[in-house]
Amino acid sequence: MKVTVVGAGNVGATCADVLAYREVANEVVLIDIKEGLSEGKALDIWQKAPIDLYDTRTVGSTNDYTKTAGSEVVVITSGLPRKPGMSRDDLIGTNAGIVKSVTENIIKHSPDAIIIVVSNPLDVMTYQAHITSKLPRTKVFGMAGILDTARYRAFLAEALNVSPKDIQAMLLGGHGDTMVPLPRYTTVAGIPVTELIDSAKLNAILERTKVGGGELVKLMGTSAWYAPGSAAAQMVEAIVRNQRRVFPVCVQLDGEYGIKDCYLGVPVILGKNGIEKIIELDLNHDEKSMLEASRKAVREVMDVLDKLG
Ligand code: NAI
Ligand code: 2OP
Repeated sequence: MKVTVVGAGNVGATCADVLAYREVANEVVLIDIKEGLSEGKALDIWQKAPIDLYDTRTVGSTNDYTKTAGSEVVVITSGLPRKPGMSRDDLIGTNAGIVKSVTENIIKHSPDAIIIVVSNPLDVMTYQAHITSKLPRTKVFGMAGILDTARYRAFLAEALNVSPKDIQAMLLGGHGDTMVPLPRYTTVAGIPVTELIDSAKLNAILERTKVGGGELVKLMGTSAWYAPGSAAAQMVEAIVRNQRRVFPVCVQLDGEYGIKDCYLGVPVILGKNGIEKIIELDLNHDEKSMLEASRKAVREVMDVLDKLG
């Protein structure tokens, strides 16, 4: 079982490290265009194996895709991250070219791979990878919802002074400020969150979640990597171990939620075939209008990509 992570930067290297540490695959290939970077990081992760006691082999490669041949799952993290003052959408021109060429290389050597996109702007880079790969939508999708719900869950755990393990939450929409957190589907060990927190505090947490990525960019001068890397690894694990986990995942909608031809985060079951099922929630009026606003925002950026050709 081989998994490839494209991009050995902050997110890609973290993802490879988590995959190795959790022994999700026998071999993890890390590939980057920057000479020596992936080889160095793969070697470093391998040298951690005797300390952390795992036997996943990590292999680095500078742009040699033959090393990725036969990968079952590929995570694409290559591309520019945000800098302060930039939105995710500012990255579109550069990252679309990178995601396109990377996807072509991946498909050439691993035609049956399942592809998880992480590069930003996430929803539109998922679109780019999907159209380039020509794979069914169940095999090309994006990571954002696990990260966004993790931020929401972490903020709630802090506010309620409880373990983050006991917070369950769901969130829909694009990976941006129009994301749609769903308090109606948020529980603390089964207890509706609205019974435990007042609405002003909850609303403040919802707003903080929507700009959670930007908060980290302001603090660090670049975007986050620990939670994003772990979130991508969790998706790989669900596929490789056929766990049928229920996660919010960015996928092309084809009529679900009354939306067609747009890439948005929705709850799915993730298993050995990739997306095994898209779960359709019965949204109320407000939730529907927030999802529609998110759809419009993503569609506008998809149109920019279409114009770029
Ligand atoms: P980074 O700059 O640390 O790493 C990116 C790596 O991609 C660099 O090592 C670079 O050499 C490599 N790269 C560039 N072009 C390449 C190509 N053609 N082939 C192979 N490798 C190539 O950036 P970081 O922080 O790892 O972020 C990566 C991407 O993930 C960014 O677009 C960022 O915005 C996005 N991101 C998405 C998240 C999400 O929730 N979906 C969360 C966090 C980051
Ligand atoms: C994040 O949410 C920037 O998408 C990146 O951290």
